[in-house]
Amino acid sequence: MQNGSQTEQPIPVTAELQYDGRTVTLPRIDPSMGDHGIGISRLRSETGMVSYDPGLANTASCRSAITYLDGENGVLMHHGYAIEDLAQHCVFLEVALLLITGTLPNREERSQFTRLMNKNSMLHEGMIQFFDNYPENSHPMAILSAMVVSLSSFYPEIAGPISEVPLDETVTNLLSKMRTIAAFSYKKSIGEPFVYPSHKLRYCENFLNMMFSSPVADYQIDPVVETTLNRFLILHADHEQNASTTVVRGVGSSGTNLYASIAAGISSLWGTLHGGANQAVIEMLEDIRNSGKRVKQIVEQAKDRSNPFRLMGFGHRVYKTYDPRARIAKQSCRELLDHLGIGRDPLLDIAVELEEAALADDYFLEKKLYPNVDFYTGITYRAMGIPTNMFTVMFALGRLPGWIAHWLEMRNDPEQRIVRPRQIYVGQKPRAFVPVQERG
Ligand code: ACO
Repeated sequence: MQNGSQTEQPIPVTAELQYDGRTVTLPRIDPSMGDHGIGISRLRSETGMVSYDPGLANTASCRSAITYLDGENGVLMHHGYAIEDLAQHCVFLEVALLLITGTLPNREERSQFTRLMNKNSMLHEGMIQFFDNYPENSHPMAILSAMVVSLSSFYPEIAGPISEVPLDETVTNLLSKMRTIAAFSYKKSIGEPFVYPSHKLRYCENFLNMMFSSPVADYQIDPVVETTLNRFLILHADHEQNASTTVVRGVGSSGTNLYASIAAGISSLWGTLHGGANQAVIEMLEDIRNSGKRVKQIVEQAKDRSNPFRLMGFGHRVYKTYDPRARIAKQSCRELLDHLGIGRDPLLDIAVELEEAALADDYFLEKKLYPNVDFYTGITYRAMGIPTNMFTVMFALGRLPGWIAHWLEMRNDPEQRIVRPRQIYVGQKPRAFVPVQERG
């Protein structure tokens, strides 16, 4: 059986696995586009064996209609719409609705959704006291994850199928309140009073206002900053079965509520190999600037197998070419810096030099390692005034509609089962128990 995207030959409807003189027939699973699958759900019952796939790099864990990704050709689409079109023409909430409902909202649906978002934007006052008890310098991702799971104690949860769940309950609650939690966690970290959400402001305006205005000073919202923020949230909105989405689906598969499932996704996103890379990229660029290390030295360090260092913001499990989101982020980053009159940002100069050096190096070319979405986002957030430790929170805000959409899809999937993989046991064989007084 061959990869559907690489051949024009008819694809066999079944695959055969030969083992120990026996032939097992495995059914083909057809996609609407992209890779075909081989169904192995009867593999163990028919062969007594299980499949082994560390990192699940070759395993489709579900059928999904939300996002299409072609990593060889750098294509990303949500419900059939190209990311380039969505990033250019939409605001974040439209893309959120697209992911969750499958269609782009018309004007009336958009306004109604905005009204619901405003209605649900405030946090229960009981929750606000939680912020006071976090120690100074708590990472905002820790606060975000804990506060999101706490939402399940304060607000109703989705229990039945999506067809029975009005969007104005859990979904808007979560989308709207997570933005408030994110801004409040920042205010807490700088010791300033919280700024409450306003019904007069749009989604991104509201976030910027909660972050940067204060009781003594208004914040003038720059429309270019607002547009760029919308675009960056859209770039992060979904990416099919990435690590955090797989966690959200996996946690939800046991029947856990949406808030708790998303809190687990936030924790997964925090890691530097995933969403935490945007913070790690800026720290790497600052280290290069402050230490005076040369870019070539960093590239050599990343290539050295005996050194755990990796070029942060480079490489991707699925993309084997330039990440289309990184291309849009790089262009938007330049446009924003020009608009803000920042001129030359030394970190952007280092990033561009690093990208050029890596893409001219055989190691990166042979392994098909290109900049991913995290490479240029941090520089842009920095220009907006967002501090480094909030970058992954920004990623989480963007990824939230994707997590919700996948959780709902999982809940309504007739093939859905609790996620419970097998293992290849490599531990001790049975041995005699030794009482404590006889152990040496
Ligand atoms: N720098 C140097 N070498 C790298 C890098 C990198 N950034 N990424 C991968 N490689 C090398 C690996 O060492 C490996 O080499 P080998 O074949 O000699 O062992 C090879 O390329 C394949 O890499 P894997 O780690 O096997 O690829 P995997 O798909 O498991 O990991 C990942 C993908 C985690 C993104 C990886 O490329 C990485 O660590 N990148 C840096 C962190 C980062 O930017 N993460 C953000 C990802 S995008 C996102 O989550 C939004």
